[in-house]
Formats: sequence, structure tokens, C-alpha cells
Amino acid sequence: METAERKKIIFSAIQPSGTITLGNYLGAWKNCAALQDEYNCIYALADLHAITVRQEPAKFRHNTLEAYALLMACGIDVEKSIFFIQSQVHTHAELAWILNCYTQFGELSRMTQFKDKSAKHPENINAGLFTYPSLMAADILLYQAELVPVGADQKQHLELARNIAERFNGVYSPTFTVPDGYIPKTNARIMSLQDPTRKMSKSDENANAYIAMLDKPDDIMRKFKRAVTDSEACVRYAEGKDGVNNLMGIYSGVTGKSFDEIEKEFEGKGYGDFKTAVGEAVVEHLRPIQERYEQLSKDKAYLERCYRENAEKALAISQRTLRKVMKKIGFVQ
Ligand code: TYM
Repeated sequence: METAERKKIIFSAIQPSGTITLGNYLGAWKNCAALQDEYNCIYALADLHAITVRQEPAKFRHNTLEAYALLMACGIDVEKSIFFIQSQVHTHAELAWILNCYTQFGELSRMTQFKDKSAKHPENINAGLFTYPSLMAADILLYQAELVPVGADQKQHLELARNIAERFNGVYSPTFTVPDGYIPKTNARIMSLQDPTRKMSKSDENANAYIAMLDKPDDIMRKFKRAVTDSEACVRYAEGKDGVNNLMGIYSGVTGKSFDEIEKEFEGKGYGDFKTAVGEAVVEHLRPIQERYEQLSKDKAYLERCYRENAEKALAISQRTLRKVMKKIGFVQ
């Protein structure tokens, strides 16, 4: 344990608000397994975040358990890392309230995700949607995380978490580690297959726009064949070729090939061949993950033991930070 504590701390989370997509995977979770040896990794399912949008109870429960098994299938190893469900660790909601009081209305108003989601759900612009970034800051700061692997869309929230940490440290004394982002150089923003100017999102109404990690091979092939490209019919990475750039990023992400290698491979070939190759590479990459998921998801008792024990571990660590924070503020001990 002592050596484990000297490793840098990584924290990341994902909302179980729908099915996990290839965008989530390539942007943030593909490396979750590889990071576990070098870092002290703490991962969570951010289910408290997910209720900022209405969730149907049975589906929500199902999605949360599915995401737990699926991320284990992607390589999270609970012998090496802590992997828990956010709502089972009460310190998150508690610190979030406290941090709300150290976060400015103006800061939250500038969050693009808040603006986007309120435009999308004008009938439910709730206070939770607005204060969501302080809960995310609490998630990260409770564990004194140094690095936070996320896709590019979470960069603004992460900046805010840094500002909140610095502000609190300045008002009192050093309390929180100020976290850095760990954003991949390529694939930090996987785009929709139907509208490559928008990010791939699990809440997209059009299922052809995203690849779900548990999609069947036929569906994956069909979605790639229908992917929007352009009329140039040349596989090359260039400005304005959003659809092709995106497919090249995905192909590179699952095969490890560079963009130069990909351009050479498809020289003189059309988009039909290219899309088939991307689809097949994704199917092959996902196959072992899907097989592990099938096995794991059958063992409900094992999964339950894992998330319960891991919630206890997360509670023990996060309580240390919460107690420190409450003492500094002046709450009666
Ligand atoms: P969420 O659930 O929307 O997404 C999970 C992770 O996937 C990344 N991601 C993408 N990356 C590349 N291309 C895409 N199209 C794409 N879509 C999503 C996200 O950047 C993210 O890393 N607020 C967070 C969850 C969260 C969190 C945290 C993350 C809650 N607390 C603390 C880090 C630390 C979210 O909604 O991610």
C-alpha cells in the first residue's frame, strides 16, 4: 500500500446515462487499463450527475450496472484500482454542496455544456444542471487527484475545478491538489457519424450517429457504411474533411496506425473500401471486450461485491479530505 500511495493519483468518471460509446472509449477510457500500473487510479460511475436529465428508473439502474461490467471488461481491474458508483459514496454530494458556496454564478453561467443542455431540454433547466461542475470538482478534489483523463468536451469543467481548488486553498490554506487534465492528442473528440461537426454522443436520438460499445458486428458495419463523408473520394486528413478525419481517427485509435500509414493504405481506393476496413477494425477491437462483458455480466454477485467494497474504499479516502475541509471552514467537529 505504501508504494501505491507514492504513485500519482488519477481520477475519472463517466455518466451511466445511456450506453457507453466508442467516443467515450477512444476519448477517455481506452487507456484506463494501461494507466493502472503506473498510477493510483480511482474511477467512478457518475450516477449523481446523470439525474440532471430525467432518467427512467429501471433503465437507469440497468445502464449503471451495464456500465460497471463494461468498464471492467475494458480493463479496469479492481485489484489495482478503485472503481465505485458515485451515489454510494455520500461525501460527493456533501463536498459538492460546500464547493457550490465557493463557485460563482458567473462561472457556472459560462459553461458551454450547461448552455447546450438547457437548449436541448428547455422544459427542465434544473439547478442541478447548473451546479453540475461543482459536483464534478468535488469528485476530483476529494481524492486529491493529480491527473484527470477526459475527452476535450470536459476541459472547461476541469478548468473550473482547478479554479475552485485554487480559490479554496487561497481562502484557507493548501487543502486540495490542483488537478491537471490528461487529454489525448488524437481522438479527444470523436464526432457523430451522421453529422461530423458534432461530437458523438450517447444521448443522440439517431442511433446511426454513434457506435455503442455493445453494438453487434452487423450494426457496426452498417453504421460505418452509412457514415457521412464528402465527395472528394480521397482518404486524407485535411481541413474541411470532418467525416473522413473522424473515421481516420477512429481507425488509428483501434489499429494503432498513423495517419500517414492510413493515407498510404487507401491510396487509389474509394470510401467504400475505407469504411469497410474501419468497421471491421472496430468490430475486431471490440470483440474481446464484448466477450469479457458477456461473462462478467452473468456474475451479478461478483459485480455487487466489487462495487460495494470499492465504495467503502472510496469513502475512507474521501472522508479524509472532507473532514479537513469542514474543519478549515469552521464546522463544529
Ligand atoms: P461523459 O459521461 O459525458 O463522458 C465520459 C468521458 O468520455 C469523454 N467523451 C468523449 N471523448 C471523445 N469524443 C467524444 N465524442 C466523447 N464523448 C464523451 C468525456 O470527455 C469523458 O471523459 N462530467 C463527465 C463525467 C464526470 C467526470 C467527473 C469526469 C463526472 N465527474 C470527474 C472526470 C472527472 C461527463 O459527463 O462525461
